[in-house]
Amino acid sequence: MQITPSILNADLANLGAEVRRIGSADMVHIDVMDNHFVPNLTLGLPVVESLRSHTDLPFDAHLMIEDPDRWAPAYAEAGCASVTFHVEAAKAPVRLAREIRKQGARASMALKPATPIEPYEDLLAELDMVLIMTVEPGFGGQKFLDMCLPKIRRTRALMQRHGVETWLQVDGGVSLETIERCAEAGADVFVAGSAVYSAADPDAMVNELRAKAEA
Ligand code: DX5
Ligand code: ZN
Repeated sequence: MQITPSILNADLANLGAEVRRIGSADMVHIDVMDNHFVPNLTLGLPVVESLRSHTDLPFDAHLMIEDPDRWAPAYAEAGCASVTFHVEAAKAPVRLAREIRKQGARASMALKPATPIEPYEDLLAELDMVLIMTVEPGFGGQKFLDMCLPKIRRTRALMQRHGVETWLQVDGGVSLETIERCAEAGADVFVAGSAVYSAADPDAMVNELRAKAEA
């Protein structure tokens, strides 16, 4: 069970210090938004490159952008251990997953709440992780969508049927209240933004969340 805090709700003007507040995290989740795929704009490659030297934690880039086919491999090259593209935006998801892996990163595919997993079943062998959004992408601090739980279950079942070791990440509204439901449905990697960065002690919250997921 891995906890990957999202820095979207951190102090974006102090990112170096903010990532050092989550030393117990398994990865740092970095939300890249381009104001086209989602109605919000965050940060991009230059910030990721600068932040790389401020922590030893692996980077988990979540690209909420148009044309990930063009940009995703560059995030792998910039030192992200995992690079997630949205399948709704990818032109050639198989080629893209292979490009990301070729750059030495884990390739991951994200699904918005209304996007089913079944059409992409045959892609599982090309992927190291599937990210199931449990809010509409674009903003932190939204309410967890229970309607996504059956899809988490179906995705876990497909992974088992295909005999793949693919991780299953959930992102959006994950907190002490909702994390057990996600774990029970089959998730094993948990993004938490506001739950971690609004806590008085973000690092303690990372450990509390992991303990709940493992319970
Ligand atoms: C939303 C982002 C999430 C977000 C999670 O589009 O992909 O990673 O930061 O924040 P919380 O945990 O507050 O929902
Ligand atoms: Zn995210």
